[in-house]
Amino acid sequence: RPQFSIALIPGDGIGPELVESAVEVLRAASADLHFTTEDGGAGTFRRTGTALSPEVLQRIRNTYDGVLKGPVGLPDVRHPDGTEAGVLGGILRGGLDTYANVRPITLLPGAATPLRSAEPGIDYVIVRENTEGLYLSRGRGVGNDRAVADQLLMTREGTERVVRFAFELARRRGGAPADRVRRVTCVDKSNVLRSFAFFRAVFDEIADEYPDIERDYRYADAAGHDLVADPGHFDVLVMENFLGDILSDVGAATVGGLGMCPSGNIGDHAAYFEPIHGSAPAIAGQDKANPTSQILAAALMLEHLGDRSTAARIKDAVARAYRRGGIRLLPNGCPEGGTEAATRAVIDALDG
Ligand code: IPM
Ligand code: MN
Repeated sequence: RPQFSIALIPGDGIGPELVESAVEVLRAASADLHFTTEDGGAGTFRRTGTALSPEVLQRIRNTYDGVLKGPVGLPDVRHPDGTEAGVLGGILRGGLDTYANVRPITLLPGAATPLRSAEPGIDYVIVRENTEGLYLSRGRGVGNDRAVADQLLMTREGTERVVRFAFELARRRGGAPADRVRRVTCVDKSNVLRSFAFFRAVFDEIADEYPDIERDYRYADAAGHDLVADPGHFDVLVMENFLGDILSDVGAATVGGLGMCPSGNIGDHAAYFEPIHGSAPAIAGQDKANPTSQILAAALMLEHLGDRSTAARIKDAVARAYRRGGIRLLPNGCPEGGTEAATRAVIDALDG
């Protein structure tokens, strides 16, 4: 019997072809997995009236060891209030209490960066709080003339646990590329918003428990600037949900685009892994999308399951494929030659 039972949620748009690509790589790497495909996303909502059924959520909680999810959402599948109906982040992140959204931003040698100089390298992790912040309450309070809605919530417990997660992660990593200093940057808007001052105060309390790790601060606007102007400074960054959503896409642009970036949604009792980007319906089904984000999401999943050696082999293969030109990105972020060719390049690079 295979070691781990994995749920695949192909999702919408480019999702199915990306998940297929990642599964091919996992198989070629002989990862000891058994796959079951589950339904979720905008297509599911259109067919069934819910983006993820309670039964699937239940199986994710109780049956599977891991979940690999493709991007979800379709522009024309919406609730009456205008928000997207196929987006199941709320269901999964809240339902599984995956409070840490871990988003590594890494510049691979050979991958294009729009930065004039990316010396001394880009290799940091955004830890995005994933269960509260501005995304917690949605909708109510929207009128014709004004909208007072979408209240931001930060709890002490919710902030403590995600900040602690960030410091623990910094202990396991090698520090920032510029100076190898282990550093956790608190990103907030505490100069204007009281909730963020609360976030920073809790950050400071937890930071006291980690005297071996440098504590560092950026206001969110300056963080956006410095992720572009001085990315080598950063090691681990921790921030509220909405800020993490935005700044992770900024980071992605510096390392070759959204198609490069995986993420893990991690809680104490469940986790799932996905690209940070959307379902790109305009290029779906055309063998165009960059599968790197999904393949690296699969590697993150293996790491989380404890199969570090297969995870490392896959990550090395991706890096090698870029370094030797097996994958070359077009200016629009899609791989030259398409999704399948890029997948093949990673598989060919698996063992040297
Ligand atoms: C992400 C995505 C989602 C989010 C969307 C699809 C709702 O952009 O994972 O970053 O905003 O969290
Ligand atoms: Mn996003």
